[in-house]
Amino acid sequence: MKTTINNKVYELNDEAADRNLLDYLREELDLTGAKNGCGKGLCGACTILADNKAVKACRQKVSFIDGKEVLTIEGMSGPGGKLHPLQQSFIDCGAVQCGFCTPGMILTAHAFLLKNNNPSRDEVRKAITPNLCRCTGYQQIIDAIMNAAVNYG
Ligand code: FES
Ligand code: FES
Repeated sequence: MKTTINNKVYELNDEAADRNLLDYLREELDLTGAKNGCGKGLCGACTILADNKAVKACRQKVSFIDGKEVLTIEGMSGPGGKLHPLQQSFIDCGAVQCGFCTPGMILTAHAFLLKNNNPSRDEVRKAITPNLCRCTGYQQIIDAIMNAAVNYG
């Protein structure tokens, strides 16, 4: 199996095909940004992008990413670790509290903004429904996504 993760090509051992994707990313590739919140597809903390679509890694096997381009939160920042404007916007808007939901939330928002760079507040609210946040009450997260939209398109 061959996959690209954060612009780096990986040749994955075929024996890994049936392993849980989230566990594999975290345990074998040391990509620990995706979190295990529920392990059941309910919270979105494990969200990654595969070919620019948001995917709950806890619900997939490694074989799912064969031939795909994967983005995890580790791949969002630019050269020298400069934060992506969407990440910076989360900080500026106070959208990060405990931070557990943040990587998944940012990737869901990123996939959404790639498709819609001029969203309404309601569209943003709807887009992030797969992702739960126990801390913020969501308003700051929506602010952050709205403010970052100008950087897309
Ligand atoms: S850990 Fe995957 S959806 Fe909760
Ligand atoms: S910031 Fe704590 S769960 Fe969202």
